[in-house]
Amino acid sequence: TQQDASAKTVRDGFTSSFGVLAATLGSAVGLGNIWKFPYLTGANGGAGFLVVYLLATLLVGLPVMISEIMLGRAAKRDAVTTLVQFSPRGQPWWLVGAFGVLAAFLIMAFYSEVAAWVFAYVFKAIGGSILSSDPAVTSAAFGQLVSDPVQSLLWQWLVLAFIGGILLMGVSKGIEAVTKKLMPILFLLLIVLCVRSLMLPGAAEGLSFLFTPDFSKISGAVILTAMGLAFFKLSIGMGTMITYGSYFRDDQNIPATTVRVMAADLFVSMLAGIAIFPAVFSFGFEPAAGPSLVFITIPAVFASMPFGHVFMVLFFVLTAIAATGAMLSILEVPVSVLNGRFGISRPKAVVATLLLLALIGSTCALSGSLLADFKLFGFNMFDLFDEVSSKLIMPAGGIALCLFVGWVWGFDKMKAELSNHGALANEALLRKLFFLLRYVTPLLVLAVMLSGLGLI
Ligand code: PHE
Repeated sequence: TQQDASAKTVRDGFTSSFGVLAATLGSAVGLGNIWKFPYLTGANGGAGFLVVYLLATLLVGLPVMISEIMLGRAAKRDAVTTLVQFSPRGQPWWLVGAFGVLAAFLIMAFYSEVAAWVFAYVFKAIGGSILSSDPAVTSAAFGQLVSDPVQSLLWQWLVLAFIGGILLMGVSKGIEAVTKKLMPILFLLLIVLCVRSLMLPGAAEGLSFLFTPDFSKISGAVILTAMGLAFFKLSIGMGTMITYGSYFRDDQNIPATTVRVMAADLFVSMLAGIAIFPAVFSFGFEPAAGPSLVFITIPAVFASMPFGHVFMVLFFVLTAIAATGAMLSILEVPVSVLNGRFGISRPKAVVATLLLLALIGSTCALSGSLLADFKLFGFNMFDLFDEVSSKLIMPAGGIALCLFVGWVWGFDKMKAELSNHGALANEALLRKLFFLLRYVTPLLVLAVMLSGLGLI
């Protein structure tokens, strides 16, 4: 139809500079900041882990993220088509895009389940049913949710439908409009919670859990964990940033935007750690790992403090907001591939993606109930999808992207795109970036992967 034809010529994209920032930061900020970063930092040597994570962010995250956004904006296509378009004949670089689509499904499968618990907890927090300072009670409440297949599936489908609804509205009217509203709220809530946490007696102990350096904890496996976290946090190595880059404006300064997003994301992670651990220690709770920290310890912590009911609602609203921006960007990868590569209309692409995801995601939703004993390679589906995406697919995608830009695309095209065709003078920096992409980053990622997996 005519409408389809015009939709092809005028491609949807981000319309303002603030929109670019909000959407991209919305992708980076997510559950990773709240249930991965603080715990991994505290458990793996505090400031020591932080140093490794920062190095991974600078030496790996920065070059890969810039490369992805750059390729996407240069092609203005989905992640698969972008690489098809720039590859010399017969070279299968498009596989990076294809694995990206696979990773999007794997990540979204467990991510949407954690988000499902978060959304459920927003309502439970408002209703007050999880408000108990006894971890045995909050643990039983969480156990009840996780082990109930009907509730787990329903909340996951609700979350998927919610995200699908935003995606149906498009890139500028959906993703951009929503993240522009949500991001400022997120910062506000986070700061309120930080101040509350820091004012509690004994807050210093939580800060020292988070920041006291213990370099003896750093091993090959911990370095891989830190690097995997950097990939996961920055949404890189699986096509999300190629896809979002394709919506960037031509006058957007890509390196500067990337640095800003990275800095803001790091800031959110630190604030999340500061909002959580001082409060946890102040009331004498043990810092636990992953889901139980957020869903068992934190409700008990809030129940112990004055006005905790209100702060608990704020905390889960904040977490739901963070998860929303990230999920939009994960799903946009397959949606844009179906739409741009296979010519399927956006509404159909969204629905198809959601249906497939409901199927794959149900293995994670049921990993606390019907599929509790189903394991592959010693992991349940939830942990397996997490490990495979953060420690294998995303780093491998990162290596491939560096090699592609460094050895196939070349310096001249990179310079043209990153200087906005001569409008920005940043040659000296670009030379350094190119050197990283060609030699340092791919070798570093490879070495970390091999040593982390115990192969060297
Ligand atoms: N960066 C998001 C987070 O930290 C997760 C994410 C991974 C988003 C991959 C998009 C792609 O929660």
